[in-house]
Amino acid sequence: MEMALKSATINVMEAAARKAGRGLIRDFGEVEQLQVSRKGPADFVSEADRRADRILRAELSKARPSFGLLMEESGSTPGSDDERLWIVDPLDGTTNFLHGIPHFAISIGLEERGEITAGVIYEPVRDELFWAEKGIGAYLNRRRIRVSSRGSFQDAVLATGIPVGARPGKDAFLAVMKPLMEQTAGVRRFGSAALDLAYVAAGRYEGFWEFGLSPWDVAAGIVIVREAGGLVSDIDGGADMLRGGSIVAANGELHMRMQKLIRDVSRRSQPA
Ligand code: 2AM
Ligand code: CA
Repeated sequence: MEMALKSATINVMEAAARKAGRGLIRDFGEVEQLQVSRKGPADFVSEADRRADRILRAELSKARPSFGLLMEESGSTPGSDDERLWIVDPLDGTTNFLHGIPHFAISIGLEERGEITAGVIYEPVRDELFWAEKGIGAYLNRRRIRVSSRGSFQDAVLATGIPVGARPGKDAFLAVMKPLMEQTAGVRRFGSAALDLAYVAAGRYEGFWEFGLSPWDVAAGIVIVREAGGLVSDIDGGADMLRGGSIVAANGELHMRMQKLIRDVSRRSQPA
């Protein structure tokens, strides 16, 4: 087994994620109890989300007081160091959490001078810590991970997110699904973009695409997929996936075919 030597940065991220993860696990247990009540657990889940946000903000800013913060729940806080930014989703997979589905994660990315250089995605139910640092490699707990080597659509399991509610791109989504339904071994929708990226890095899915995501959904996943030997781009094949709202991540064999198919088919569809 290749053993991982964690840097001080990764140790800070891991400690923060594990502390927030313990809170989420406690709160998830409560949600399972609350499922039966009529009002439902929605308010409680928002509070769980904010509690995790507060823990992460406190831990990360205590360890690195000069870094900026961009957090899904509590917004953007510039740091005195304007070249380093934590990009944090305290609870990715909120809908799963609310419904008692044990598939959610904490995602922490570090952006340095415009580039994501470190990422941690922690899935507290299975105690799976996906992490990577630029130039060091990608790991699941203590084991090195790599994207899958399946190079044909026919063998590929892909993951995506289905736009819900007011999110745009429903027609484009449906148009893209049809050829992928025909050509691949299956398309999954598990409800956490951060974990979808982590699973691509671990070789569980061959690829993942989604439109309409935010920086905190994808920041950590970008470096984890890359360090696992995969490719990540926006829908046009460019590098604007952090703030541009579209992402395609896959192993090196499939990435370009997937990106071109998704781009071409969604372009031809009508706006939602
Ligand atoms: P969340 O659980 O933190 O809300 C599922 O398709 C993915 O999309 C999840 O990672 C989810 O993150 C994210 N997501 C859900 N609603 C969204 C919205 N309105 N805008 C952008 N991303 C969203
Ligand atoms: Ca999210």
